[in-house]
Amino acid sequence: MTLIDEAPVPQGADDSGAPLLEVRDLHVEFHTRDGVAKAVNGVNYTVNAGETLAVLGESGSGKSVTAQAIMGILDMPPGRIPKGEILFKGQDMLKMSGEERRRIRGAKVAMIFQDALSSLNPVYSVGFQLGEMFRVHRGMSKKEARAKAIELMDRVKIPAAAQRVDDYPHQFSGGMRQRIMIAMALALEPDLIIADEPTTALDVTVQAQVMDLLAELQREYNMGLILITHDLGVVADVADKIAVMYAGRIVETAPVHELYKRPAHPYTKGLLESIPRLDRKGQELYAIKGLPPNLTRIPTGCAFNPRCPQATDLCRSDVPALFPVTERDGADLAGRGSACHYWKETLHG
Ligand SMILES: Nc1ncnc2c1ncn2[C@@H]1O[C@H](COP(=O)(O)OP(=O)(O)OP(=O)(O)O)[C@@H](O)[C@H]1O
Ligand SMILES: [Mg+2]
Repeated sequence: MTLIDEAPVPQGADDSGAPLLEVRDLHVEFHTRDGVAKAVNGVNYTVNAGETLAVLGESGSGKSVTAQAIMGILDMPPGRIPKGEILFKGQDMLKMSGEERRRIRGAKVAMIFQDALSSLNPVYSVGFQLGEMFRVHRGMSKKEARAKAIELMDRVKIPAAAQRVDDYPHQFSGGMRQRIMIAMALALEPDLIIADEPTTALDVTVQAQVMDLLAELQREYNMGLILITHDLGVVADVADKIAVMYAGRIVETAPVHELYKRPAHPYTKGLLESIPRLDRKGQELYAIKGLPPNLTRIPTGCAFNPRCPQATDLCRSDVPALFPVTERDGADLAGRGSACHYWKETLHG
């Protein structure tokens, strides 16, 4: 090994010192028969190596669309990105050629979806599908690729991997299939994984096991992880920070435990009061009255105002920026922001 090989790699940054991923003022819209649906309306977030960002919000808040834009798998048309930047190690992926984009996808940024059964091909064995990553991207022989597939199945703790490598997706349980999805995502050792509701389809106990595994591998590989969920309960132990989305915007961002302890946005407060209980799996107990807005007709002012118990005329007329959140005495609360005109009242009561 040469000295250069041993040179330390700066954590979470390339030579330019840029974060692993930086989404800047991202906008996504869909042209539909009803009009233009504004699904993402100025999202900003940063993920560093070894860091887990949980993106939280009700159905339709734009979590998946943001992820699809990052992955470069958005349906365009009807989708369009009128504005924004998606910087991967400082380079705007929206300005890259299709070829450059494809090289990053899978190898540098990988995605895990909710539904493993529809993401895996039913007619090929799991070992073949895992091995294909190595044959196609790493030029390995069939034999080498098979060995790699077994190794990966071991890594994601699939019992008796060597015996099960030739089994088909339907022969595995839901939890085991989700592990296989994780193995697929890990195969090329990406810098960033986006997991979109990776455990939603699983039983509660299996959910926790899969989430723990994902967190363990993320630490071990020092990857960035974006964890999309509508369930606050599953992210508390694994995320570093949380971005709460509503109607395509981030309405609150905070280190995970601070968000739980002291929310600074009425929407987050409502979500916290509606954490699903273990004995009522599958039911979403929203304490928040009403429904998210139609994205072709987002209310003026704060999009949450029709549902907010504290809304005033100001909330109905002015869109709140993501204000930096501070202590009562003005002391900085690093990494905290709230898009509520009344964040002080919400936080400090
Ligand atoms: N291909 C598409 N064509 C038209 N509208 C779309 C398309 N994809 C997404 N949308 C709209 O964009 C909005 C945001 O969708 P998105 O899938 O990001 O929500 P989400 O926050 O991931 O919700 P969920 O928790 O249900 O997964 C939704 O109103 C959805 O209908
Ligand atoms: Mg989604």
